[in-house]
Amino acid sequence: MQIAIDGPAGSGKTSVARALAKRFGCLLVNTGAMYRAVALALSHGLKLSEIQLEIRPNERVFLNGEDVTEQLYTPEIDELASQVAARSEVREFLIEQQRVLAQNRDVVMEGRDIGSVVLPNADVKLYLDASLEERARRRCHERPGLSYDEVLAQLRARDARDGQGFGRLQITPNTVIIRTDGRTLNDVIAEAIQAVEAALQRRSPSGKLSG
Ligand code: DC
Repeated sequence: MQIAIDGPAGSGKTSVARALAKRFGCLLVNTGAMYRAVALALSHGLKLSEIQLEIRPNERVFLNGEDVTEQLYTPEIDELASQVAARSEVREFLIEQQRVLAQNRDVVMEGRDIGSVVLPNADVKLYLDASLEERARRRCHERPGLSYDEVLAQLRARDARDGQGFGRLQITPNTVIIRTDGRTLNDVIAEAIQAVEAALQRRSPSGKLSG
């Protein structure tokens, strides 16, 4: 089973992806973390051909054998990752690895182009969305060094860049759109689980899960 989750920064993708992976026994692949690790590597002067990434089931990200997870979620890497993700050679490099990760495996993959480009035939496609202001409020808790206005300005700039080209933030047919404004995480997760169960029912009307 392949579950694709897309949406802008701060829409709640990671929390929902985590919950679905646990509930349905899937490997969780956070593709944003892959773009972040590549941004870190390039900023250290490495070439794409010198980059080896590994995402462990516990979500730790290894770059050439080193656990870099703690270095990926800073305002600097927020910005750099958004910039390197706009380079076609970086996207080709990572999309190929993402497809390999999803091969013959139950997977929940989250990002910006999963349902549209990486796994267009995913069994379930979810698109999470929320207003810019709500997403900025959530991000403020994750980036305590920045003011609300700084986070808002950064998110606005990233929204514009992250949705530009390469099929990103495109809602394709059969995508379930989940708006998360003013809702609790549990409520959103419950809706996402329902969407997955409905898709499984359609795939196997007897109710038996296959694959
Ligand atoms: O989801 P995130 O904020 O951790 O993603 C980091 C950056 O990578 C973000 O600016 C957009 C980019 N990205 C992308 O272009 N395509 C993806 N599938 C995932 C992330």
